[in-house]
Amino acid sequence: MIRGMERRDLAWARDLDFRLFSEASWGEEEMEEAFRPGRRFLVEEEKKPRAWAGMDASGAFAHILSIDVEPSFQGKGLGSALLSSLLSSARGMGKGKCVLEVSCKNSPALGLYKKFGFKTREKIEGYYPSYDAFVMEKDLEG
Ligand SMILES: CC(C)(COP(=O)(O)OP(=O)(O)OC[C@H]1O[C@@H](n2cnc3c(N)ncnc32)[C@H](O)[C@@H]1OP(=O)(O)O)[C@@H](O)C(=O)NCCC(=O)NCCS
Repeated sequence: MIRGMERRDLAWARDLDFRLFSEASWGEEEMEEAFRPGRRFLVEEEKKPRAWAGMDASGAFAHILSIDVEPSFQGKGLGSALLSSLLSSARGMGKGKCVLEVSCKNSPALGLYKKFGFKTREKIEGYYPSYDAFVMEKDLEG
């Protein structure tokens, strides 16, 4: 089941981000931004939360901020389900384009985004503490 993120999810969501990204993980203040206007943060749960994803739709484009799946549930379609839900929301809000940044070394995430039709627009050196990033985008119109 996919639902909106709630305050009670924040500690788990931040802990999962730390386990996945260590030094590049989200801080407490960044997580709090989940509740700012224009943000859409989702949790996938089956008895317990298993994955979360966040998007900023306050600007001209939708911007995917993060997709985090518990390691034991990766590769089971949860990331796809969350991304699909965020893209539907973005279309519903009339956004014509969706953008995101992803580490050049993150093969699973690159595979996910390519599967959903994202194209690489540019490379940003030093975007993450240890890695460069690709900026990817997808047209939502048509
Ligand atoms: C990247 C991530 C969000 C993908 O979510 P997921 O639920 O594991 O992925 P899904 O099961 O929905 O798979 C969707 C597609 O992603 C790609 N993919 C997923 N796992 C992969 C892997 N280990 N290697 C290569 N491609 C992979 C494939 O293209 C897959 O499509 P397919 O099943 O038809 O081959 C998840 O693995 C994750 O949380 N990783 C750690 C955190 C992270 O890197 N987040 C992204 C930050 S930008």
